[in-house]
Amino acid sequence: MRVRLAILISGRGRNLRALIAAVQDGRIDAEIAAVISNCRNAEGLAFARKAGLVTEVLSHAEFVDRRAFDTALAERLRRYAPDIVALAGFMRVLGEDFVAEFRGRMLNIHPSLLPKYAGLHTHRRALAAGDAEHGATVHFVTSEVDGGAPVIQGRLQIQAGDDEAQLAERVMNDIELKIYPQAVAWMARGELRLIENAAIYKGQRLDRALGMDQLEEAFR
Ligand code: GAR
Repeated sequence: MRVRLAILISGRGRNLRALIAAVQDGRIDAEIAAVISNCRNAEGLAFARKAGLVTEVLSHAEFVDRRAFDTALAERLRRYAPDIVALAGFMRVLGEDFVAEFRGRMLNIHPSLLPKYAGLHTHRRALAAGDAEHGATVHFVTSEVDGGAPVIQGRLQIQAGDDEAQLAERVMNDIELKIYPQAVAWMARGELRLIENAAIYKGQRLDRALGMDQLEEAFR
């Protein structure tokens, strides 16, 4: 049976598109069971529909609290029996019960060199701090926001004159769109797993994230 991938989005969906492209051309050996958005107007939803994928909207605004939304989202996801849940610009914090249910199956991409700059406005914060380097990280999702075991991290030099938008664009194009399809491909092949709190890659425990030099040719 093919590996079933569910993708959760909130916005523009560039990471979603990269994942769809990698599934379509066979680099990720999985089928996309569903694309679920918490925002009705997410650009990524329209793209997924055009690609002929099953899409769902579950608007957090329609639930009394975080817990009720989480419960409904878990219930919705369960229907698709996902082996992998990829958060691709999904901008809701998920509660402990939700994370526990999908633990070991759920990845996130975050636009910073975690553990630096969990949360929002990562590019702005890296610039304000005068950092020389910035980047993005794929990690397993645990209940700590942007805090689970890191899998792969790409870094770039911040250039004099970079503004927030330029930096965001480079992190997206040069790093995010490469490392996320790669990480999901590893997971689909069973080469990436979470055991207790550690990421295990090809049988080895990762003490820190892999780097861009570990990208396979097809993902560079
Ligand atoms: C991406 O930069 C992703 O890393 C970030 O949101 C953006 C979504 O863009 N995610 C987070 O900040 C999660 N904490 P996209 O919808 O075009 O892929």
